[in-house]
Amino acid sequence: MSTHNVWTHKGTFLLAAVGSAVGLGNLWRFPYLTGENGGGAFILVYALTIFAVGIPILIAEIMLGRNSRRSPIMGMRFLTRTHRTSRAWESIGWLGAVSAFLILSFYSVIAGWAIHYTGLMLTGGMSEIDAAGASQSFDALLASPALLTLYHTLFIAASALIVGLGIHKGIESGLRLLMPSLFVILLVVLGYGAVVGDIGAAAGFLFTFNLADLSLEGWLQAMGQSFFTLSLGMGAIMAYGAYMPGESSLTRTAFAIAIVDTAVAMVAGLAIFALVFGSGLNPGEGPGLMFVTLPLAFAEMPGGALVGGVFFILVLGAAISSSISLIEPVAAFLVERFDMTRPQAVTVMVIASWALGLLTVVSFNLWAEGTIFHTLFGRSAFGFIELLTNIFMPLGGLLIALFAGWALTHSEVMKEMHTNERWFHFWRFLVRFVAPAAVAFVFLRSIPQVEG
Ligand code: PFF
Ligand code: NA
Repeated sequence: MSTHNVWTHKGTFLLAAVGSAVGLGNLWRFPYLTGENGGGAFILVYALTIFAVGIPILIAEIMLGRNSRRSPIMGMRFLTRTHRTSRAWESIGWLGAVSAFLILSFYSVIAGWAIHYTGLMLTGGMSEIDAAGASQSFDALLASPALLTLYHTLFIAASALIVGLGIHKGIESGLRLLMPSLFVILLVVLGYGAVVGDIGAAAGFLFTFNLADLSLEGWLQAMGQSFFTLSLGMGAIMAYGAYMPGESSLTRTAFAIAIVDTAVAMVAGLAIFALVFGSGLNPGEGPGLMFVTLPLAFAEMPGGALVGGVFFILVLGAAISSSISLIEPVAAFLVERFDMTRPQAVTVMVIASWALGLLTVVSFNLWAEGTIFHTLFGRSAFGFIELLTNIFMPLGGLLIALFAGWALTHSEVMKEMHTNERWFHFWRFLVRFVAPAAVAFVFLRSIPQVEG
């Protein structure tokens, strides 16, 4: 059992964590779920759970990683031993590994769509297209299981290569360039959307709400999305926390991650819905929302083919810096537990996730309807896997909150947090009571409704 090295540069953890957080969750999943759930009420629940539940758990998760200096599963084992608590807490590590495996399976398929659109943009394949044409082009992509599988394979193989070779620790300079560029280009699209689209309608849709409009499953999706977008409740952040230097501030780091992540989601959402309302597209379009909307903007914008091509390349970069953080905790566990080499561990994890991803591929064509998932849960295999992650991530987060709040002693946590007493007590109140109550509330309301 080896103890991890520590990243020497203080900013490295922050960069890696932002790289994990910012990704398809912000650009693809946030707008599509918001659109399907009618806008503002969804965002309200999402934002409340980020600040009252997400940030406190983010602090707890980084703390557990930094305190154990091990991969999540072995780390939880170590912590339960040194703190003499029940081994049942190890389930946090296991649950996280299962969630990572599920998420990677579909994340890679969706990232594959961005490979396709990078090509379409750079070859001018979408210039002068209109709303109907953009939808047709997306439908044509979805209709081809072979093409989707090819892209899925390419993306997951690239992620595996980066983690397997251990070069994910060296890509910080890349992220330092990628993240600001992505943000700038989103602002350009937003500016363009404000001019040609309907930004007033977008703001109205996103920021006015009637909670009664949100379906019970919408509550579950909003909470699930707040965990998904922060990479929370499944060990990814814990795995990175293991490398964080002891003197960095947990609180400040956690706030920085959440603020950057939320800002990217909001700018992407505003830009996309300005274009949606400007061109009469359907906000409830579903998983294709980003991929039919943004190409439309690039089609008309001066120099749009190039801007669009660069945009989708940056999307791929953001997606890969997230997908490697999904592979990392599982691979680290396999290495520590089964004495596998790093490349072996990554290969095992990724092949399994790749195979599961084929279910997402066929959910958009061959198995779009009439499967056992439809019969049992009224949704496709992809929808079912998403539903599982909407449950598993908050469940993992709930356990992390309970462990940090109740199983660790005051002085242990205080030592790791080194913050003032007042904030410490507030944080402890949030992880002990507020976060568990909020997760339980949403679960009890919405899960019984899921089959309906
Ligand atoms: N946070 C990522 C995103 O918003 O795209 C997705 C993700 C990455 C979720 C890593 C979970 C995770 F462990
Ligand atoms: Na995110």
